[in-house]
Amino acid sequence: VQGIVTSGEKMKIIGISGSPRGSLSQTLRLVNAVLAGAEQAGAETEFVDICFLDIQYCIGCGVCYTTGGCIHADEFGGLFQKMLESDGIVIGSPVYINSVTAQLKTVLDRMADAIHCQQFTGKYACAVSTAGGSHADEVVAYLNSVMRILGATTVGGVGVILSPDPSAIIAAETDGRELGKTMVSAIREQKKYPDQEIEHRVIRERMKSLVACNKDIWMHEYAYWTEMGW
Ligand SMILES: Cc1cc2nc3c(=O)[nH]c(=O)nc-3n(C[C@H](O)[C@H](O)[C@H](O)COP(=O)(O)O)c2cc1C
Repeated sequence: VQGIVTSGEKMKIIGISGSPRGSLSQTLRLVNAVLAGAEQAGAETEFVDICFLDIQYCIGCGVCYTTGGCIHADEFGGLFQKMLESDGIVIGSPVYINSVTAQLKTVLDRMADAIHCQQFTGKYACAVSTAGGSHADEVVAYLNSVMRILGATTVGGVGVILSPDPSAIIAAETDGRELGKTMVSAIREQKKYPDQEIEHRVIRERMKSLVACNKDIWMHEYAYWTEMGW
């Protein structure tokens, strides 16, 4: 299964930030704190600021369901490949109007085919968010739910409110480093969370019947499920 580390290989963890503020971003700091904790625990890490990538909107054409390809020739494919090659994914967004940034949502919308194919099965994930005044925990919960619907197991998250006390980021970074270590241990042990096992079974059954019902038009997805022996 993708995501399982075989002996001799170093565990890979990718950190993704969806803040458009580059080096000024507090979310970027928090994602990097999780990566620092993961590195301390022995993982190899890579950080990606998706706002520097050319990633177009999904237009809902369904070509990916049928062929596995996309009508857009942009940088999403490279980013997705890096995610597929990772054992763990750290995903972060600032709160923008009670939700994730448009830039990060654009990335998530490009993953409908990956959801149908449960392509993050065997991977581990966690989420972080920073906010001015509210909804950091809600965005963490949302991002973790997206990781689970892709098939990943989530190990926790850190959400922080930065107003009126911007120095709250320092304690959040400490929590972030711990989260990174937790993720590395979960990957090493291939830890199972009973609630998530149930949730994964339910999602999987739903995706399986969706793909089976549409097998005449979603040929790529049906072939993928068949090839995986699912
Ligand atoms: C367009 C926009 C929308 C925002 N919406 C919210 C919001 O709904 N709730 C909130 O608490 N903070 C909101 N904020 C504040 C950011 O979440 C906060 O400053 C965050 O820490 C910025 O993260 P960054 O430094 O990683 O860019 C918003 C900021 C912007 C620019």
